[in-house]
Amino acid sequence: MSVSLSEPTKIALVGAGAIGSGWAIVFARAGFHAVLNDINQAQLDAAKRLIADRLAELSDFGLLAEPSETVAARLTYDIDLGAAIHGADLVIESAPERLEIKQALLQRLVEGTGPQTVIASSSSAITASAMAEALPDRHRCLVAHPGNPPYLLPVVELVPAPFTAKDIVEKAKTLFTAAGMSVVTLAREVEGFVFNRLQGAVLREAYCLVRDGVVGVDELDAVIRDGLGMRYAFIGPFETSDLNVRGGIAAHAARMAPAYERMGAERGQHDPWTAELVDKVADQRRAALPLSDWEARVAWRDRRLMALNRLKRELREADA
Ligand SMILES: NC(=O)c1ccc[n+]([C@@H]2O[C@H](COP(=O)([O-])OP(=O)(O)OC[C@H]3O[C@@H](n4cnc5c(N)ncnc54)[C@H](O)[C@@H]3O)[C@@H](O)[C@H]2O)c1
Repeated sequence: MSVSLSEPTKIALVGAGAIGSGWAIVFARAGFHAVLNDINQAQLDAAKRLIADRLAELSDFGLLAEPSETVAARLTYDIDLGAAIHGADLVIESAPERLEIKQALLQRLVEGTGPQTVIASSSSAITASAMAEALPDRHRCLVAHPGNPPYLLPVVELVPAPFTAKDIVEKAKTLFTAAGMSVVTLAREVEGFVFNRLQGAVLREAYCLVRDGVVGVDELDAVIRDGLGMRYAFIGPFETSDLNVRGGIAAHAARMAPAYERMGAERGQHDPWTAELVDKVADQRRAALPLSDWEARVAWRDRRLMALNRLKRELREADA
């Protein structure tokens, strides 16, 4: 199977709630024609209104390259599922997160589309293995998990099942990239994928700290809001650690590993950063950023933080 796209490329979005409407904005903004489908006509009508409002707001913020009406005109709405998905290059289902709904829907999507169609599920937690195991054409199914709303958080996690065909993953990657998404492809299915595992790790510790009377809820939020989260708006935890210690992440691990290991053990979690693991991470960081460029990158991070501080001050002043 080739990864070539039909011309014009057709995107079908099944389930027009928060996520389906969000995907509609993502694809229409990038120039794709997309059709939205829902089992409920009132929901389709509501989605059309919501999308028009959101596009107008995006335009007010200078985040659309074209008038919002031009973008909205790329979207059509069809209560007939068969017609909506017919001939689509990519179908994304964003129906409620219930296994029996997803299983029945994926069956209809597989049956109603041809061998070139990628069938993606926005599922937050249910894997493609669980949803599509019993389907004849299951090799066309995978998860494409977005953040909410996807038109403001551009990352999408592609999570193939062991049975998903490689060229289907490639075609999905091509389409989501063309839609302006930052595509992260997981090597295998894990519960929560990466987004929610990271979110869960932070939230678990946050609950423990409140439970143990170490800190209050708003104070804990302040540590993220006014601290960690400001860095994470630009760089992830690996790059953060890499830039925090001269010598990069290997030097960071040499200094910090024992303390982090004790903190993990306190929570019953024994996941030492072995020399081999640290080497693996450090090798990837050095490939991304040679140590000779380290100072320049630290200065770049600080300029980003200056811009963010200025923006936050402007937003505070506008709120006052
Ligand atoms: N909301 C989030 O924060 C978020 C983030 C990432 C992923 N997701 C996932 O995206 C999916 C959708 O979530 P949501 O928040 O948009 O839900 P939602 O409740 O806002 O929307 C679901 C829509 O699906 C429609 N629907 C139900 N059965 C259908 C069917 N058989 N065919 C077509 N449409 C059908 C409903 O009428 C509704 O409009 C879920 O799997 C969810 O876990 C949600």
